[in-house]
Amino acid sequence: MRTVTVGVLGSGTVGQDVLNLIQRRESMFGDMGVRIEIAGVLVRDLGKVRHVPPGTRVTTDPAFLQECGMVIEVMGGVDRPLEMLLPYLRSGRPVITANKALLAERWDVLRDYALAGSLYYEASVMAGTPVIGPMSTVLRASTFTRLQAVLNGTCLYILGQMERGKDYADALAGAQALGYAETPPTLDVGGFDTAHKLAVLARFCADGNFPYSAVTVQGIEHITPQDIQAARAAGECIRLVAELERQEGGWRATVAPQRLPDSHPLCTAGAGRNALVYEGEECGTLVFAGGGAGGMITASAMVGDLLDWVLGFPGHVPLH
Ligand code: NAP
Ligand code: HSE
Repeated sequence: MRTVTVGVLGSGTVGQDVLNLIQRRESMFGDMGVRIEIAGVLVRDLGKVRHVPPGTRVTTDPAFLQECGMVIEVMGGVDRPLEMLLPYLRSGRPVITANKALLAERWDVLRDYALAGSLYYEASVMAGTPVIGPMSTVLRASTFTRLQAVLNGTCLYILGQMERGKDYADALAGAQALGYAETPPTLDVGGFDTAHKLAVLARFCADGNFPYSAVTVQGIEHITPQDIQAARAAGECIRLVAELERQEGGWRATVAPQRLPDSHPLCTAGAGRNALVYEGEECGTLVFAGGGAGGMITASAMVGDLLDWVLGFPGHVPLH
C-alpha cells in the first residue's frame, strides 16, 4: 500500500466535507493501492467546532505543506492562497482547488501550472456538476460558438425565494445559512463570482489566456419584487446569466440579469439547479444542469479530482 500525504487549506463548508468524503472513500483508495494521510488542515480559528473525522490535525501553522504530495485549497481569497500555493507548485507538486476567484484573477501566474497539468479545478465552476471535465477533453474537437449559463447558487436561491414572496435580505441570509455565499456576498450578488467562473470556462473554449477583466459584470442587487412579479406575469423568470459568444475580432463575455421565458433550459433546469447551455458546430447544443453550490456536492468534485490524480490523469489543461 502506497501512502499519499495530503494537506488541506481551509475547513469551512467545503473543507469539512472534503475531509469527510475522503474518509468515506477510504476503501476505494485502498482498492487502488493507496492510503490517504491528511498531514494537516489549515484554519484561522482553532476554537471553532469542526465536523471532521476524529484525529484530524487542525492547525494554524502551514508548515505541514512541506511534507505533502498534494494540496487541496478550500480557503478562498486570492493573495493568501496564492502566497502559500506558489512555492508548492514551483516545486512541481499538484493542487486541487475550488477557488474560481484565484483562478480568474491570477491566471497570469497559474496558467503555466495548468498547462503542465498540475492544477485540478472541476469544483470551481458548478461545484459537483461536471462542466470543466467535458470542456477540457471531448468538447475540444468541436468548434465552440456560444454558451449561456446560470453559475451562481446564491443568486439563484435569492431570485427563487423572491419569486415565492421573500424579501431580498431574508433570501440572502438564507443562502448564507446554507453555506452557498462567498465572503463577502457582494462577490455573488454583484455578479463577480459568476464572472470569475465565466473567465475560467472561457479558457477552455475561447482563448486559453482569457482575461477576467474582459467580462462585463452586472449583479442582481437592483432587482425588485416588482421586477420579479412582472416577469412571472409574463411567463418569464429572471436569472443572472453568463454569456460568451464570438464577436468580430474576439469574444463578448457578459454577466447580467435577464428575463427568460419559463421554457428556456436555464429556467427548466429546476429549483436550485445551475445550468449551462453549450453550443458547438459539431457537437450541437448540449445542456448541463445540477447543483452548483454546497459543501458535499463541491467535495464530490474535489475528491473526484483527487481520484483522477491518484489514477495518473493530468489536471484541467486550458487551450494552448
Ligand atoms: P468557508 O466556509 O468560509 O471556509 C473557509 C475556510 O478557510 C475556513 O475554515 C477558514 O478558517 C479558512 N481560512 C480562510 N482564510 C484563511 C487564512 N488566511 N488562513 C487560514 N485559514 C483560512 O468557505 P467555503 O464555502 O468552504 O469555500 C471555500 C472555497 O471554495 C472558496 O474559494 C469558494 O469560492 C469555493 N467554493 C465554495 C462553494 C460553496 O458552496 N461553499 C462551492 C464551490 C466552491 P476558519 O474556519 O478558522 O475561519
Ligand atoms: N458562492 C458560490 C455560489 C459558491 O453561490 O454559487 C459555489 O461556487
